[in-house]
Amino acid sequence: MTFTKQWFTAIVTSGTAGTGGLGGRRKLKSLAGSMRCTTWAARENAVSQISVVDVSKYWGATRAVDGVSFAADAGSLLVLLGPSGCGKSTTLRLIAGLEQVSGGRIFIGGADVTALPPAKRRIAMVFQSYALFPHLTVAENILFGLKVRKVAAAERDRRLERVAALLGLERLLARKPAQLSGGQQQRVALGRAIIAETPVCLMDEPLSNLDAQLRAEMRREIRSIQQKLGITMVYVTHDQSEAMSMADRVVLMREGKVEQAAAPDDMYARPATVFAARFIGTPPMNILPAAPDIAAADQVLMGVRPEHVMLGHDIGMPLRVRGVEFFGADTVVTCAYGEATLTARVPGKATLSAGSAIRVHWRPEDLHFFDAASGRRRDDVMTLAIGDAKQFVHAGLA
Ligand SMILES: Nc1ncnc2c1ncn2[C@@H]1O[C@H](COP(=O)(O)OP(=O)(O)OP(=O)(O)O)[C@@H](O)[C@H]1O
Ligand SMILES: [Mg+2]
Repeated sequence: MTFTKQWFTAIVTSGTAGTGGLGGRRKLKSLAGSMRCTTWAARENAVSQISVVDVSKYWGATRAVDGVSFAADAGSLLVLLGPSGCGKSTTLRLIAGLEQVSGGRIFIGGADVTALPPAKRRIAMVFQSYALFPHLTVAENILFGLKVRKVAAAERDRRLERVAALLGLERLLARKPAQLSGGQQQRVALGRAIIAETPVCLMDEPLSNLDAQLRAEMRREIRSIQQKLGITMVYVTHDQSEAMSMADRVVLMREGKVEQAAAPDDMYARPATVFAARFIGTPPMNILPAAPDIAAADQVLMGVRPEHVMLGHDIGMPLRVRGVEFFGADTVVTCAYGEATLTARVPGKATLSAGSAIRVHWRPEDLHFFDAASGRRRDDVMTLAIGDAKQFVHAGLA
């Protein structure tokens, strides 16, 4: 999707020019510093939650978004998660008003904004590409939207000081984007969204261009800012660890539809489908044929997370180790399981090597069951399994 200046102007100028804010004299030294939460976002958030109701977007035969519904509570961070092409960016752009829906309705703060242009939706947006103006300095980039909105100079200066301190940009304000690292450019893009002081902020894969360490830092900073300012945020990513660590609620998308919407810990503990089970968690959940002695075994798949597979020499089914990868804090051991592979993640360094004989087992309550045809979760089978644990601990033992 290409970015245009017109859109940018609409998006960053969409906040009201109200006199909200944090009080000019208070200086924010760092994100870890204390900050009272009587912010514009907290005040306005009484009505700033987002509802997406049965929204679709078609381009000819392409159903980019197909009957999607979800809601973000006021002051919460909702992550749209899913593989490339599943419709995350399109959904975000529909919320922003950068695309028109083919069907359905979008509400922000209780008001139906479906037909409103971006500038009337009172949101800020951070694009994946940063979309900074190369000819403007950092300060000018951050202030661009406020100038367009003709916010008074004193107010602009006050907000700039605050945002620069919040993001550690104080000493970079006179530089041009080309003189910044990727992470610094990212902060400028964030600053431009934050300074608008809108209660709703949309972010499209804002950290994907950063290295792993910086990404982890920025993810904590964004979450911290979102919580401290009480912003309602919709954040797009294809990185499940980002979703798990940041979100209050995760909406997992697949081929234009919502696969599952849940709090991160619920999605991890009770994935609704095989797709959700394998998308959340790393390495992905093992999905195996169910033990032959369970009812309707041929119609059921059994899932167990690598971190729930226990290795030993005394109990469980005997398997042969195929590979061992040491990651410092833990080791991932892959074993041959019939034609398939079973992955185990064990703490520390495992003294195993390819070809070692090993036994594996797991607690029955750590098993998940799915319908083999539809991929949907089958909690009825789970109950049976816990009732007769022994069979499943030794599942696959032949
Ligand atoms: N303007 C457009 N015209 C036609 N098809 C489009 C357009 N924009 C997006 N699509 C299609 O809609 C689908 C969803 O695209 P979208 O950009 O929303 O995916 P995404 O989940 O953000 O993927 P990624 O993680 O790769 O950014 C894709 O099949 C894409 O090719
Ligand atoms: Mg995208």
